Amino acid sequence: METVSTSPILDSAVKPYVRPRRLRATPALRELVRENRWSTRQLVLPIFVREGISEPAPIASLPGQFQHTVTSAVALTREAVDAGVGGVIIFGVPAEENKDEFGSNAWSADCIANKALRAIRDEVGERIVLMADTCLDEFTSHGHCGPLTPQGDVDNDAAVACYQKVAVSQAEAGAQIVAPSGMMDGQVAAIRAALDEAGFDDVAILAYSAKFASAFYGPFRDAVGCELSGDRKSYQEDPANRREALHETELDIAEGADMVMVKPGSSYLDILSDVAEILPVPVGVYQVSGEYAMVAAAAERGWIDLERIVDEQLTSFVRAGADFILTYWALTAAKWC
Ligand code: PBG
Repeated sequence: METVSTSPILDSAVKPYVRPRRLRATPALRELVRENRWSTRQLVLPIFVREGISEPAPIASLPGQFQHTVTSAVALTREAVDAGVGGVIIFGVPAEENKDEFGSNAWSADCIANKALRAIRDEVGERIVLMADTCLDEFTSHGHCGPLTPQGDVDNDAAVACYQKVAVSQAEAGAQIVAPSGMMDGQVAAIRAALDEAGFDDVAILAYSAKFASAFYGPFRDAVGCELSGDRKSYQEDPANRREALHETELDIAEGADMVMVKPGSSYLDILSDVAEILPVPVGVYQVSGEYAMVAAAAERGWIDLERIVDEQLTSFVRAGADFILTYWALTAAKWC
């Protein structure tokens, strides 16, 4: 039956010549013309491994995430492999007595991070990409990403010398990719030289190139028991700076970074898009702890639809140009697929 409009507005309207809505008519059609989608292979799961615990310990500000024992970290990685997750990145949480002003436990072959790397590598081999966060803040007594000068600032070149040792110890423990996150100048070139010198020419560097001094890292500090007083504004980037982020990223590539990363994610899509468009290496994005916590908390209250929100966020990272995504949702999201 034909419906005839009686609306004077419709009668006088000029009919659209182009109707984009035609391609939104059915789910099948929408799927067909979808420009961007994420896949589980692009997701990287951060895993915290804590020394001195016998059971996984829940992290209050990251509901659903745990500090793991080596055994439970291995089991979690196996689960990630089975779910098709692309990679894991390991963060070590040492016992209090193993922290010092240099963070020297970080480059011990027996530190908790290296133990976990070795155990995971033995268990899953090359079925998942094994990454290590290469930094010192979890291991220093003061919580900064390197040793301090007498004035209390982080000593750039001393920190870089420590990172070289950390990276080599992680490569020895089986990391395929080391990911320096300390934002010290010259860290990528120094780590590349140290890895090569030690015979690890094939271990790649993922540079946290555009890492901003962000309040979104709050829950992470709980997760790693970091007792930072003050902030990291003298080494991480100012959230207001877009051009500087490209400069930092270009420097890291010139220093030999194989892949680069933008961090945090959601509030920095413009940076991600710039890097993806202009620079020649794979680019990742890190959806950080605060981003996870906000979504988890709102979903717990029933205020948002968790699955749709996370899907939308992951899609937006890919749309902005990310090749891979570090996210605490990695395993959860992989299981939706
Ligand atoms: C530093 C590091 C941090 C994160 C990853 N590596 C914390 C910081 O820079 O303060 C944050 C990750 C997150 O918030 O999920 N080693």
